[in-house]
Amino acid sequence: MAKVKKVYVCSECGHETSGWLGRCPSCEAWNSFSVVKEMPAKSSTVHAGSWLPSTSDGARTEVIDLSKIEVEEIRRLPTTIAELDRVLGGGIDPGSLILLGGDPGIGKSTLALEILGHIPEDEILYVSGEESETQIRMRCERLELGDKAIPLLTTTNFSIVEKIILELRPTFAVIDSIQTVYSDDLTAAPGSVSQVREAGMGFLRIAKSYGITILMTGHVTKEGAIAGPRVLEHMVDTVLYFEGERDSSLRILRCVKNRFFATDEIGIFEMTEKGLVSVDQATCLFLDGKPRNTPGSVITAILEGSRPLLLELQALTVASNYGSPIRMAQGIDRSRLIMLLAVAEKKTNLDFSTLDAYVNVTGGMRIRGTSADLAILAALLSSVRNEPLGLEAIVIGEVGLTGEVRSVSRISDYLEEAYRAGWKRFVVPASTRSRLRRFEKERDVRVYYVSELNEAFDLLFVKKG
Ligand code: TYD
Ligand code: MG
Repeated sequence: MAKVKKVYVCSECGHETSGWLGRCPSCEAWNSFSVVKEMPAKSSTVHAGSWLPSTSDGARTEVIDLSKIEVEEIRRLPTTIAELDRVLGGGIDPGSLILLGGDPGIGKSTLALEILGHIPEDEILYVSGEESETQIRMRCERLELGDKAIPLLTTTNFSIVEKIILELRPTFAVIDSIQTVYSDDLTAAPGSVSQVREAGMGFLRIAKSYGITILMTGHVTKEGAIAGPRVLEHMVDTVLYFEGERDSSLRILRCVKNRFFATDEIGIFEMTEKGLVSVDQATCLFLDGKPRNTPGSVITAILEGSRPLLLELQALTVASNYGSPIRMAQGIDRSRLIMLLAVAEKKTNLDFSTLDAYVNVTGGMRIRGTSADLAILAALLSSVRNEPLGLEAIVIGEVGLTGEVRSVSRISDYLEEAYRAGWKRFVVPASTRSRLRRFEKERDVRVYYVSELNEAFDLLFVKKG
C-alpha cells in the first residue's frame, strides 16, 4: 500500500510543515494550519522546476556559461487597452504568466474579456469556472464583442483545461478564476491553498513550455492577499491588482510585480455601461468637484508613476470620549498619521491627546509616499481651528521628525500638472526653490516656500488674537 503523507499547510501563505504549528513561521498568522492534503508520497503531477525545458527529471546536469546565452529582444504585444499597456510597460510579454487579483465584482472578468477582444479569435481561449455560458455571452454583448467567436471552455478540472490548451495551442488563454480550478490528484477542496498552488504550477509549466501567455484571475481574501496563495505571487511573472471603491466607478490597476519591467505606473479605468474605459486625463479625477472652502479640506498632489494626480484630503477632529483617542486613516497609512500627529504636538502648541482624528482621501485613492504629509497636517489643523485654509493653494511636502518640511522629488512635474488644471498657488518645501525657479518665472503663479512646520502653519492660517 502506498504510504500516506500528511502535510499541514498555512491557509494564509501556503507554508507547509510535517506537523501542526500554532503560528506560521513564514507569515506569522495564528491558527492557520490544517491538514489539507493526505496523499501517496509520490502522486503529484507537477513538481518544482518541471516546466524547465531540460531533462526529464526537470533539472540540468551540466553547468553552463551565462555569457554564452543569447537573449532575444523582448517583444511586447500591445493589448491596445491604453491603461493596461501603461501598467505593463508597453504590452504583454509572450509566454508570461499573469495574475490579475482583486475583490469580487471589481471587474477582473470584464478586463480579461476585453483583452481577448483585441486578439484574433484563433489565438485565444477563455476558460471560465465561475459563470454560466449565458452569463458570459451577456457580458460579451455588453462589451460589444457579440460577433466575436471567442473559444470558451467552462470547466474547472485542470487536466481538461490542460488537454484543451495543448490541443488548441492559443497564444493567449484566460483562466477565470484560478480558485475554481482543481486537480484530481489532490484530495483538498477546490480553492484551497494546495489546489491553487498545484493549478498555478501547472499553468506555469504550460506557459513556459509552450510559450502560451496565461492570465489567471484571482479573488482577494479579506486580509488583502491574493486568496490563500501568496504562493502564486512568487511563481507568476506579473501580478496585477485591481483597486477601487464599490460605490465609485473608478478602478485602479496596479502592478505589484513584473519580472520583465520595473513599473510603478498605475492604470486608471472607469467602469461604464460598456465595460472598462481607459482614463487618460486623470489629473482632477479624484477631486470631488470643485475645491470647497471648508475647514478640514486641503488639496495636494501625488505622483503615481509618471502621472501627477490632484487629491483632496479631508480631516476631522472631535473631542475624544475615550482614554486613548481614535486615529482613523482612510487612504493613508495609519502609522504615518500617528507619527505626524506626534510631530505636530511636539513642534507646535497643538494638543491632539484629547482629540479623535479622522483623515480621508476622497475618491478612494491611496497615498503611498510621503509628499502629502504637510497637507495632512494642514487639513488636521484646519479642522481643529474650524477654519478653511487662508490660502487657496496646493500643499506639497514631506514632514520630518524634527518638524522640518522636506524635499519632494520631481516637484516641477506636480506643479506643471496642477497649473494645467488651473491652480496658481503652491506651498512647497524651501529646498525645491532652485528647481522651481524656471516654472515660477515662466508661469503666472505664486509659489510659497516653507522649511518648517510652524512657518507653513503661519502661512496657511491667519493668526488669531
Ligand atoms: P466582473 O468583471 O464580473 O468582476 P469580477 O470578475 O472581478 O468579479 O464585473 C462585475 C461588475 O462590473 C458588475 O457589478 C457589473 C459591472 N459591469 C459594468 O458596470 N459594465 C460592464 O460593461 C460590465 C461587463 C460589468
Ligand atoms: Mg469574475
